[in-house]
Amino acid sequence: MGEQSRASFGGKISAILVAAGSAIGLGSIWRFPYMAGEHGGAAFLLVYLLCVFVVGIPVMLAEFAVGRKTRLNAVGAYRSLSKRWKWVGYNGALAAMFISGYYYIVAGWSLEYLVSSLFGPLYTSADSFTAQFDAFQASPRQAVYTVIFILLTHMIIVRGVVKGIEKAAKVMMPALFVILIVMAVRVAFMPDAAEGYRFFLKPDFREAFSAQTIFTAIGQAFFSLSVGMGCMVTYASYFKRDNNLTTTAFSVSLLTLLVAILAGLVIFPAVFSAGLEPSEGASLIFVTLPEIFKGMPFAALWSAVFFILLTLASLTSTISFHEVLTAYFAEEHDLSRKNATRLTSALSVALCALTLAFRFDINLGEWFHIENISFFEIFDYTSANILMPLGGLFTCIFAAWYMKPEFLRGELTNYGQLRGRAFPLLRFTLRYITPLLLIYIFVCNLGLF
Ligand code: PFF
Repeated sequence: MGEQSRASFGGKISAILVAAGSAIGLGSIWRFPYMAGEHGGAAFLLVYLLCVFVVGIPVMLAEFAVGRKTRLNAVGAYRSLSKRWKWVGYNGALAAMFISGYYYIVAGWSLEYLVSSLFGPLYTSADSFTAQFDAFQASPRQAVYTVIFILLTHMIIVRGVVKGIEKAAKVMMPALFVILIVMAVRVAFMPDAAEGYRFFLKPDFREAFSAQTIFTAIGQAFFSLSVGMGCMVTYASYFKRDNNLTTTAFSVSLLTLLVAILAGLVIFPAVFSAGLEPSEGASLIFVTLPEIFKGMPFAALWSAVFFILLTLASLTSTISFHEVLTAYFAEEHDLSRKNATRLTSALSVALCALTLAFRFDINLGEWFHIENISFFEIFDYTSANILMPLGGLFTCIFAAWYMKPEFLRGELTNYGQLRGRAFPLLRFTLRYITPLLLIYIFVCNLGLF
């Protein structure tokens, strides 16, 4: 596609808004507390913070550079710079497919909770929130909400990436911060809140720390920042040539971090106050948050506002991984945008159906045995913990070793327009620190499989 005909995002703020719209979503509000709850609370938070700075931000910058330089979809971008590296783009497209196979389902949960807050039975039923969550998972409504979510995403993508996301992100993000802050203040007054703060903020490395903590925290950093899978490559292909990539990457990452920390400050005091377990798993926020709202005046209303925002935050994320595949099909396989969008949506429906329909055991003898697993866990684990870190590792090697230094310097300084003071540090990090850390973690964790 020619430079002129390719859509581009408005200006500086739009670039930050759309990229933050992709990053901020279920990853920070649903997945982060659930992973932190399962992997040691404060110790997890600390490692996650470190990963965002040492791995997430450098990889995001490298992806921005690849995307804006080439102005192509993830596969096309790597291919146009070097044929041999195009598989990094394919790795990303595969991760986008895996994420599509379960993310819409969780987004559908948020939609269900929105409707159920407003029209019952979330706050009118005598059943516990855990029982209600289980009942919802067993009902066909789950599939219906999943499909509705895919359709919503489809409709926005058909109209083009620019307007839909910019608009949604502009309203949603400030509102999301406000409601999270209100909730954080509210939970501070719940009984036994202090125990939650201790769990989330006071690291205990002796008890709750293992190689698995680091592995999971790195995966969470990739997932929550939408890096390592070509999403930021695709989005940066719509950035303007005068956008400052460094400020954009820092702003996006800091905003995402803030949302994740706020989510933790809301969830954990509430978990302990309600006598629940932080290691509850994927249902954590869906049983904990209603407990908070229940004690507030106008419970259903607060709850509805929160789930509208969570739905919107999820939508700006689903749009972004849908766009990775749509742009790939359209540009690499010469489909019209409309058909590429249809193909991606149909694929998403098929993958989610697979996830919702099957549960099975994996039995590889004594070495490896898991019972009653679904594609939900498989898609989540392989995308966040394997494909995305792998994509991130090779993006570093590509941008900082394979390409000439002028490539990164050029993109990060806008070819001499910006001073680029952070450039030497960034290049050093991308050449040595990030890849070595990722390789080390992969090697250490080989024993875990
Ligand atoms: N970062 C999104 C979230 O935290 O919800 C999830 C995501 C979006 C991952 C887009 C990857 C991606 F390409």
